[in-house]
Amino acid sequence: MFVFSHYSDNIPYSPPRVARIELVPWDDAYSVDNPLIDSEHREIVRLLNLLYEDWRSGASRFDILALHDELMANFELHFANEEEMLVRYGCPRLGEHVVEHIKLTAELRDIGQSLFSCDQDEGEAHLRAFLRMMLDEHVRTFDRDLMTVQPH
Ligand SMILES: [Fe+2]
Ligand SMILES: [Fe+2]
Repeated sequence: MFVFSHYSDNIPYSPPRVARIELVPWDDAYSVDNPLIDSEHREIVRLLNLLYEDWRSGASRFDILALHDELMANFELHFANEEEMLVRYGCPRLGEHVVEHIKLTAELRDIGQSLFSCDQDEGEAHLRAFLRMMLDEHVRTFDRDLMTVQPH
């Protein structure tokens, strides 16, 4: 059975795939009270959890790399959108924030390479640590700077 989107009678809509067991689930405590930025963060968390699930369940190298490419593209778009806002609202510690984005991107790239050469425990620990670093040490610290300057 097809479910149709509200926008067209011709385009079948399938809801985004979500991991059955999430390594680190989204939590509203990660919200920065900005609909665009929150939705991009949620999408990145969804994709990282899917990457974990697919890798863990032995998906093909091709599928895992395709998902990793999608994540890299999401990172690039998200950081561009966020940095544009940081500049527009005159956010504090902009330079430090951008350096953190560069580090996160390098770390994600590294994960894409290491998943094929580590065992399950190492891979899980690496992905979990990355999600925690991104959410607890970046979103809940640097990205929350937006809350102090964005218009309400
Ligand atoms: Fe950020
Ligand atoms: Fe962010």
